[in-house]
Amino acid sequence: MTVRLDAYMQEKKAWIDRQLPLFLQDRTIPGKLKESMLYSLTAGGKRIRPILLFAALDTLGKEEDLGLSTAVALEMIHTYSLIHDDLPAMDNDDLRRGKPTNHKMFGEATAILAGDGLLTVAFQIVASDPILDGEVRSRLVALLAGAAGPEGMVGGQEDDLEAEEKTLTLGQLMSVHGRKTGRLVRFPLEAAAVIAGATEQQTHSLTGYADHLGLAFQIGDDILDITGNEDELGKPVGSDLDNHKNTYVSLLKLEGAKRKMADHVDHAVGFLRESGFENGLLAQIAEFVLNRTF
Ligand code: IPE
Ligand code: IPE
Ligand code: MG
Ligand code: MG
Ligand code: MG
Repeated sequence: MTVRLDAYMQEKKAWIDRQLPLFLQDRTIPGKLKESMLYSLTAGGKRIRPILLFAALDTLGKEEDLGLSTAVALEMIHTYSLIHDDLPAMDNDDLRRGKPTNHKMFGEATAILAGDGLLTVAFQIVASDPILDGEVRSRLVALLAGAAGPEGMVGGQEDDLEAEEKTLTLGQLMSVHGRKTGRLVRFPLEAAAVIAGATEQQTHSLTGYADHLGLAFQIGDDILDITGNEDELGKPVGSDLDNHKNTYVSLLKLEGAKRKMADHVDHAVGFLRESGFENGLLAQIAEFVLNRTF
């Protein structure tokens, strides 16, 4: 990772870490539910999706502040997806972001409601963003719902569950990964394009980049489930094997999965080149995704 990206990621992570609880603090939420929402939200995490939104705004020459509410909402939805993903009925994991999973701390019922709460308040935050105008806000709400909902992440999660005990083709697995993870990685690039009023060409570059980056990101996640270190990852390794998941590693073996990840990163940077963005932060984030160990 270059020095510039390292410093940028640290600064933006610290910013979003500070902001996330502020967006909940004045809301009247039952004590245990609020505690449970804040527990997962403030447990850490790379904050890669908000960082992508800020880096894309920077790339388009806009102030990152314009994307703050949207980035907070996105991270809340991502966090909800992790809480539900870890539930006994789904991946049944006990560790997340270096801490016991939400249901281990608060019980399954409150964990489900914490996820519901984060999902819903996220839309409240985008819809009532004090900075962006109404037209932009309504486009962001529609995009976020598409990315998070049954045609996006939720649909991909269902297909991921249905595929346990079956063997998917590579094309089918790409479709699952493209929805369960890819759509919430695509959203920050789409959102930045909408907020910044990007040209069609710029939007095409950013979303093409995002689609390849999202696949590379989940392939990396599949790889780290085998090769990663539990302390560094903050979540269990071997969960995919325990759950008989289809992953890039189960289909292509480790070396094949690594090659696919590198191909997608190359393609992602290729899309940036179309708009002359290949020397900026977004290309460096692609390199981070390729080499990450957590
Ligand atoms: C994990 O996401 C789940 C996937 C969609 C791959 P992250 O790797 O972004 O998890 P955090 O937010 O850093 O904890
Ligand atoms: C989950 O994929 C994607 C989500 C929508 C949360 P995984 O089940 O592989 O994510 P981890 O490995 O538990 O973070
Ligand atoms: Mg899962
Ligand atoms: Mg999981
Ligand atoms: Mg995983």
